[in-house]
Amino acid sequence: MALELDRPDLARSDNFIDGIWQPSGAGAHYDVCDPATGEAIATVADSTAADAQAATVAAHRAFDSWRQQPAAARAKLLKRWHALILEHTEDLARLISREQGKPLAEARGEVAYGASYVDWFAAEAVRSYGDIIPAPVGSKRMLVTKEPVGVVAAITPWNFPLAMIARKIAPALAAGCTVVAKPAEDTPLTALALVALAEEAGLPAGVLNIVTSSREKVADVVGAWLEDARVRKITFTGSTAVGKLLARDSAPTLKRLSLELGGNAPFIVFEDADLDAAVEGLMAAKFRNGGQTCVSPNRVYVQESVYEAFADKLVARVQSLRVGPGDRDDSQIGPMINARAVDKIERHVQDALARGAMLLTGGQRLNGGVTTGPNYYAPTVLGDASHDMALAQDETFGPVVPLFRFRDEEEVVDAANDTPYGLAAYFFSRDVARIWRLAERLQTGLVGINEGALAAESAPFGGIKESGYGREGSRYGLDDYMATKYLCQGNLA
Ligand code: SIN
Repeated sequence: MALELDRPDLARSDNFIDGIWQPSGAGAHYDVCDPATGEAIATVADSTAADAQAATVAAHRAFDSWRQQPAAARAKLLKRWHALILEHTEDLARLISREQGKPLAEARGEVAYGASYVDWFAAEAVRSYGDIIPAPVGSKRMLVTKEPVGVVAAITPWNFPLAMIARKIAPALAAGCTVVAKPAEDTPLTALALVALAEEAGLPAGVLNIVTSSREKVADVVGAWLEDARVRKITFTGSTAVGKLLARDSAPTLKRLSLELGGNAPFIVFEDADLDAAVEGLMAAKFRNGGQTCVSPNRVYVQESVYEAFADKLVARVQSLRVGPGDRDDSQIGPMINARAVDKIERHVQDALARGAMLLTGGQRLNGGVTTGPNYYAPTVLGDASHDMALAQDETFGPVVPLFRFRDEEEVVDAANDTPYGLAAYFFSRDVARIWRLAERLQTGLVGINEGALAAESAPFGGIKESGYGREGSRYGLDDYMATKYLCQGNLA
């Protein structure tokens, strides 16, 4: 089925470099596939290192005039872009749903979520204040200002094809940086449409450039940016393994980095929790985007005395979830992104069962009825999970909830922190003293306290340990794209 859009011109297949839509210099294309059926829905440019370099040249050339624009002028363009994104919500949601698989209603939510970062940073652009420092010697004047870091390379994931690129580009542009972007191989269409709307908003040529590439060419494109000293910053959301490679290969030119990497989020339910609220919190956090988020609870710890009651309530809720293609009104969980993703989920579940987990519901691929296609997996709950299972060590990135029993707070805090990752953690308790203890002891960048939905444009999103560094969103998010400069004026006499 072809892409059906009210604005067919938003379905782009070329790169956008220096204000011009153009095919890859090598003339190559690759197919973008619908994860529900595996069928090709569009073709886009399969770019080379030369295309990436052309984007860098354009962004570098545009940098001086863009940074010199008054912040208010940059904010005005971002506001126009924000308005256009909202105006075209329906088309953008269709693109997200078709290339990524999430249900349309959730895709509409993603458009609003991504747009909120553009709106937020339009407002932050005019608030990048500096400081005046009291001088130790009376005749001196000491000032601190902030400057854009320069050309930023944004490398974005497939799980939120609009929101993740928006929350990187918006602060970069607000700060006065110019951008070269590469969306995930599986989901380039939404990003291209977003850039088409930025062009329509009036962004000057070269300020925002985008190149697409297949999995085979990604190393050429990103490699060209890594080795180029004109690219001063890399912002990346994706796996920890790739984040480490980017950090290593950025070292020769000492680029700044923002890395939003993998997680292994614990979700803890204490015996004093409101169990119904905990189940709802878990449903929201776990099954958003079919479990394909880096903040998705990966290990659910339930205190022994409420374990059975919690498991029963959870299984009933999970069995009520409707799985189906994104364009069906009643779908709540769509297909997984691709065959590799489903294989990993299957591997994790099989490994857990072989090591003694109990299958409480789900536990298999779905292919029949409305779920005709290779990439559907049943929402699954596993009981009696243990730490020797692969799903306790590595994020499953799918609709699988493993339940672990615990005795007391000490034990569960140790277990929750026993991972190299540190992105998100959640816990449910009504004990105020415990709430503060846990909030401080959990080693993550984000903590949900009696809450499963964490992210917001006004809040700092990011991890610690091997989940990366840097923060997206909030008033802290602009700093990731700015360098602090100290000015010292001596005696004028
Ligand atoms: C992610 O999964 O990378 C981001 C999730 C979010 O923004 O909540």
